[in-house]
Amino acid sequence: MRDDITQDLTGLNTLRLVSHAARYFRLDSEQQLSMVTQCVQRAGGRIYMLGGGSNLVLREHLLRPVVHNLLKGIRLIEETPDAYIVEAAGGEVWHDFVATCIRNGWYGLENLALIPGTVGACPVQNIGAYGVEVMDRIASVCTWDLVQGRPRSFSAQECAFSYRDSLFKKPAGQGYLITAVRFRLPRQWTPTISYPDLKSDPELVQNATPQKIFDAVCRIRQAKLPDPAIIGNAGSFFKNPIVSAAQQSQLKTDYPALVTYRQTDGSYKLAAGWMIEQCGWKGRTLGRVGMHHRQALVLVNHGGATATDVLALADAVIASVRQKFDVTLEREPVLFD
Ligand code: EPU
Repeated sequence: MRDDITQDLTGLNTLRLVSHAARYFRLDSEQQLSMVTQCVQRAGGRIYMLGGGSNLVLREHLLRPVVHNLLKGIRLIEETPDAYIVEAAGGEVWHDFVATCIRNGWYGLENLALIPGTVGACPVQNIGAYGVEVMDRIASVCTWDLVQGRPRSFSAQECAFSYRDSLFKKPAGQGYLITAVRFRLPRQWTPTISYPDLKSDPELVQNATPQKIFDAVCRIRQAKLPDPAIIGNAGSFFKNPIVSAAQQSQLKTDYPALVTYRQTDGSYKLAAGWMIEQCGWKGRTLGRVGMHHRQALVLVNHGGATATDVLALADAVIASVRQKFDVTLEREPVLFD
C-alpha cells in the first residue's frame, strides 16, 4: 500500500463536491491494516476515513491522508436460539448487504433499504429510517485501533448510540477504523410499520413481509428523495431537532401544522423539512446549490459546487429557521476540512 498517491474525490462523495486528497490509500485487505497504522503515525494521528462518501462535506483540498475502506465479506457468525449473528465488512455497500440479508432469510434491516453508503459508515451516524435505527440491530462493531495497531471490538452499549450520533462521531472515537459490523437479527421477525408512510399502505397493513417492506421503502425513498447518481446530495442535510415538551407546546400554539414526534423521554423531535419549507427554502437555490424541491431537508448540488457553497447555504437556512422558530438546526453530514 502506497501513501503518496493523490486522488480526485469528486466522484467518491455523493454530494459530488469538488475535492482532492493529497494522500489517498485504498484499503482492500485486512493484511494492510498494520500499514495503515504506520501511515497514521506518519500523519501525526490525523487521517480521514472514507466509505461510500454519502454523509460527508469535503473541502476542496484535503491535506490529511484519506483511507478508503473497501473491505468486503458477509458471513453468518452464529445462530442463537433467538437470533442470527451476521457480520459484514466495513466496505460492503449498505443496500446490497440489506438485500443479501433478505435473500438469506435474515430479517430486520428491511426498513433501512436504499440508504446510500457502506456498512462501515452505518454505526457512525446511527443510520435510521421508517421506524428503525441501525443501533436496534447492531450487536458489536469491530475496529482497528489506529494508535495501538491492534483490533478492538465495541459492544453496542460502548458505541453510545443516539439519534444520528455515536462514539465514532466524537473525538474519543476518532482513532478507530471500522473493519466490520456484527448484526443481531431476530429469528422471530415482527414487522415495523408504525411510520406514517408505511402504515398508510393497505398491503402492508394486511400482510407485511420483509420483502414487501423492503419494496415499499425503496418505492417511498425513490419518490421522495433525489438519487445521488442523478443529482449530488447527502440525504438529510440537517438533523431533526429535539426540543423540550414546553418548547414544543409553544411552537404548536404558534404553528399548529408543525410536524412533531414525541420521544420516549418526553421530549419532541421536530420535522426540520417542514420548518425549512415554511421558511421558503424548498426548491430554492443559492449559487450552485439548493434545497430539494420535493424534500426541503435535502441539500443538492446543481453542479460544480464546493464545500464553501454548501456551508453558505446551510448557514442561510439555519439563520432563517432560527429567526422564524427560535430553533437551531444542526448539520448532519461530517465536514472534512
Ligand atoms: N416535510 C415537509 N416538507 C418537506 C419535507 C418534509 O412538510 O420538504 C414533512 C413531511 O410531510 C412529514 C415530515 O416533514 O410530515 C417528515 O418528513 P419525512 O417523513 O420525509 O422524514 P424526515 O423527518 O424529513 C427523516 C430522516 C430520513 C428518513 C426519514 C424516514 C432525519 C434527519 N431524516 O426525514 O433520513 O429517511 O425520516 O424515516 O432524521 C437521512 O438521514 O439522510 C434520511 C434521509
